[in-house]
Amino acid sequence: MDSYTDGYFSPNEDVTRVAHCKTMEEYKEIYGESINDPDKFWGNYAKNFYFKTFPDKNLFDYNFDIRKGDVYIKFAEDAITNISYNCLDLKVENGLGDVVAFYWEGNDPLDCTSITYKQLLDEVCKFSNVLKSLGVKKEDKVAIYMPMILELVVAMLACARIGAVHSIVFGGFSAESLCNRILDASCDVIITADGMYRGTKLVKLKNIASEAVKLCSEANHKVTTCITVKHVTAKSFSDEETKRPSMRPCLDLQLSWNKDVDRWWHDLMANASTTCEPEWMKSEDTLFILYTSGSTGKPKGILHHITGYMLWASATHKYTFDYHPGDVYFCTADIGWITGHTYVTYGPLLNGATSVIFEGVPYFPDQSRLWAIVDKYQVSKFYTAPTAIRSLMKHGEEPVKKYKRTSLQVLGTVGEPINPEAWLWYRNVIGNGKCSIVDTFWQTETGGHVLTPLPGCTPTKPGSATFPFFGIVPSVLSDEGKEITSSDEGYLVFNKPWPGMMRTIHGDHKRFEGTYFTRFPGYYVPGDGCIRDKDGLFWITGRIDDMINVSGHLLSTAEVESSLITHHLVSEAAVVGRPDPIKGECLYCFVTLLDGVEFTPGIVIELKGKVREHIGGFSIPDYIQSAPALPKTRSGKIMRRVLRNVARDNHDLGDISTMADESVIGVLFANRVG
Ligand code: PRX
Repeated sequence: MDSYTDGYFSPNEDVTRVAHCKTMEEYKEIYGESINDPDKFWGNYAKNFYFKTFPDKNLFDYNFDIRKGDVYIKFAEDAITNISYNCLDLKVENGLGDVVAFYWEGNDPLDCTSITYKQLLDEVCKFSNVLKSLGVKKEDKVAIYMPMILELVVAMLACARIGAVHSIVFGGFSAESLCNRILDASCDVIITADGMYRGTKLVKLKNIASEAVKLCSEANHKVTTCITVKHVTAKSFSDEETKRPSMRPCLDLQLSWNKDVDRWWHDLMANASTTCEPEWMKSEDTLFILYTSGSTGKPKGILHHITGYMLWASATHKYTFDYHPGDVYFCTADIGWITGHTYVTYGPLLNGATSVIFEGVPYFPDQSRLWAIVDKYQVSKFYTAPTAIRSLMKHGEEPVKKYKRTSLQVLGTVGEPINPEAWLWYRNVIGNGKCSIVDTFWQTETGGHVLTPLPGCTPTKPGSATFPFFGIVPSVLSDEGKEITSSDEGYLVFNKPWPGMMRTIHGDHKRFEGTYFTRFPGYYVPGDGCIRDKDGLFWITGRIDDMINVSGHLLSTAEVESSLITHHLVSEAAVVGRPDPIKGECLYCFVTLLDGVEFTPGIVIELKGKVREHIGGFSIPDYIQSAPALPKTRSGKIMRRVLRNVARDNHDLGDISTMADESVIGVLFANRVG
């Protein structure tokens, strides 16, 4: 058990007994080694993996200081390896061939299967051969738009095996968003599935993919092949099973199919060979592109490269979850986001772990689904988002208490600041008061955890991501770029790279430098506010830019605004974040219609539809209000600070002396919604 004194939860003794890192003294020693001699530290860690050419002694080569020239980061440049080999072949060689790599749990509780490391290797080799037979080669970009099914893992590892670059697009994005990502990366091949269930809701993924392919061709880009997994129409079930609303097969899918482009996954796989020599890759070859929202509205294609990402994914998964052979690990994130890339696929497989991969949603068939899964597979390490915890809290303890959850040891959170109330509920109710909580701070850009407690080692305070992971040197800077030593809020920054950080933005290195390296030359600036308390613990306070974190998904206000103004009756739009008890933040939109047009409930529905169409269903605004005029400075800049206060119904507006026309304020408050 742990104990609570002076605002701290002490490390849990049961976890400490087996932990990789058992005390803060040990943490400080290992951390010191990682900072003082990073080449030696990561050189040693690299020995866990197979390299055709082992990394040289001088691993890091970088410039973080834009004043001295272009920013660049290189790691183990001379090394040659293949990440799919290290995830699979190496595990089979080490005797883990029959170990379960994934338990797959479908949307419906009766729908489940599992796959061993050897079976996964065979599938990956087969699909690698399929991709090669379609002409996909090293450095080609492949778009993947799939549900949480095993074929998604197979597809990404097959790309990695042959040196192709995967660009996975979350299945909640619209055809237009998918098209923009295909165009940005110039993908010729896309892999999808016929459909997926989210609870009782059927999403016709293939038809969305077909629409995206059509939009691409209108933009003069030809997608040559679209490979579709037969998923919701896959198997035959008994009559009883087909009566279940969420159960495959779905009988009325009406797939849009173009025989010149479309191929079935199972047809292509039928005769593919299970042998495929990996493409031996240089460390700084690209592994994947993953798009994340950017404050200009255009998503940024973040690039991660092979060896650095591989070591980072493995080391953070091992230490942050205190992973040991025999654990069953379950991360609820979708692979379409970075959490799924690093902590569903790469990290666990690189460590030979057994994981649960879950297709469904936490509330189907009822609110206790996640705990049913935990008991079913005896999950010991569990990882989810604060928004999921808060929405489960709303339903009270009863759905949780239906299951024992006695196998749980470590509970992780990610994606947004966790409020102490949710942290405590996670610990006391979900974890039966006997688990270590790890609040992990990181980003698409960081590749893996950068601030996190280590289970069984770090004393924790609810709401703090505590201390840096090995190799990370964080500071907090003031507006003037001075290091803040008191507990005042400032900008979180990092003064040197770590192996797993991004290398650039696809096709736009200037934007990479401008976004992350110009505010404070010499530092990587992730865009989050931070406080370092008197004991040295880091507390993330939220975004300091125009990004809004809705349920752990970063959304750009500019992107939502541009979707709203595509409506023919809208002249102007401004979007701000408003605190939300479940989602953390939600979108609150102010819309100015053309002169003489009436603001009606019908227009609100159409506007929500515009955001769904341009971005995707997960980004639909909660509130849209009429704003006959927006508050602006005399130079015409929208005063978002004022709008944030209106959205929160806070009449204390501070200094508004620069506002051009103060009379708009009364109207804005009068038109408030929600
Ligand atoms: O604002 C921070 C928040 O999520 C942002 C990164 O979003 P994304 O690239 O989509 O990756 C999400 C999954 C890693 C960060 O800039 N964030 C993430 N984790 C935390 C967090 N904020 C506070 N505490 C966290 N643990």
